[in-house]
Amino acid sequence: MADERVVILGGKGMLGSDLVGVCRARGFETVVFDLPEFDITNEQQLKDAVKDVGVIINCAAYTNVDGAESESELAQKVNAEAVGRLGALAAESGAWVLHVSTDFVFDGESDSPYVEADSPNPVSAYGASKLAGERLLIESGCGCCIIRVEWTYGLGGNNFVAKLVSLAKQGKALKVIDDQIGSPTATTEVAKVIVKLLEMRVEGMFHFASFGYVSRFEMAKFIFDKLDIPVELSSCKSSEYVTAAKRPLNSCFDCSKIVGLLGEPIKPWQEPLEEFLRQL
Ligand SMILES: NC(=O)c1ccc[n+]([C@@H]2O[C@H](COP(=O)([O-])OP(=O)(O)OC[C@H]3O[C@@H](n4cnc5c(N)ncnc54)[C@H](OP(=O)(O)O)[C@@H]3O)[C@@H](O)[C@H]2O)c1
Repeated sequence: MADERVVILGGKGMLGSDLVGVCRARGFETVVFDLPEFDITNEQQLKDAVKDVGVIINCAAYTNVDGAESESELAQKVNAEAVGRLGALAAESGAWVLHVSTDFVFDGESDSPYVEADSPNPVSAYGASKLAGERLLIESGCGCCIIRVEWTYGLGGNNFVAKLVSLAKQGKALKVIDDQIGSPTATTEVAKVIVKLLEMRVEGMFHFASFGYVSRFEMAKFIFDKLDIPVELSSCKSSEYVTAAKRPLNSCFDCSKIVGLLGEPIKPWQEPLEEFLRQL
C-alpha cells in the first residue's frame, strides 16, 4: 500500500532544498534522496527510494549545461534513462510523479512566448537529455505532472544571480548578454507552486516562470541597482560570449495554463528577486 509520504529525489539541490522546506511547512512527511548516498541511475537504489510511496518529486538532474556537451552520456543516464525507469516504477505502484524540466527543450527561435504545446527542438545536449526524460516519463504511462521552469535562482545553489554578485564584489568589470530574454524565477516561488500541484495531484505539462520578460543584461542592471554595488557593466551579444553549449535566445514562457489552473496571478520577477537579494 502506498502511503502519503512525499519523496523528493535531488532534495539537496537548489530547487529541492527549498521544496523540502515548503513541503514540511505544509505538513507533508518528506523524505530526501540525493547524491552521494543515492544515485538515481542506480536501479536498486531508485527502487528502494520509491517503494510504497504515493508521491515522488524528481528534482534530481545533471544540470551542468556546458558540461553536458562533453558528458552527454551521463546527462542522458541521469536526465532521461533514470526518469523513464522512475516512470515505470510509478506506473506499477500507482504513485504520482512530479518531474521538473526546462525551457532548454526549446530552440528559442520563436518570436513569441512558448506554450506547452509548442514543438521542442533542443539546441544543447543538456536540453536533449531533459526532453528525452520528459518523453520517457510520459511514455511510461504513470500519473505525472511535468513543470518546465527557467532562469531559476535560490539560496541552495550556484546560479546566475549569485555568480554576478560575487564577481561584482571582487571589483571585476562585467559584460552581460543582452540578447537572451526570459523570466528570472526564484526557486522559493517554484516550490510553492509545486506543492499546490501536489495537493491537486494534477497531471499534464505546465510552464511556470515569474511574470514579465527581461534580458540577462537588464536583470544584472536591476541587481546592481538594488544592491547599490558600483560595477563597470556593459552588454554583449551571445555570439561574443562563447560557451560549450548553445543557449536559447528566447526563453519566454506563456504561463496562462498554470495561471488558469491555480486561479491566481504570478508575481512579477522583480519582487522575489529583491527578497532574494536582501538575504544574500
Ligand atoms: N537552474 C536552472 O536555471 C534551471 C532551469 C530550468 C530547469 N531546471 C531544472 O530544475 C531541476 C532542479 O535543478 P536545480 O536548479 O535545483 O539544480 P541542482 O542544484 O544541480 O540540483 C540537482 C540535484 O540533483 C542531484 N543529482 C545529480 N545527479 C544525480 C544522480 N545521478 N542521482 C541523484 N541525484 C543527482 C544534484 O547533486 P549534486 O549537486 O551533488 O550534483 C543536485 O542535488 C532540474 O530538473 C533542472 O533541470 C533548472
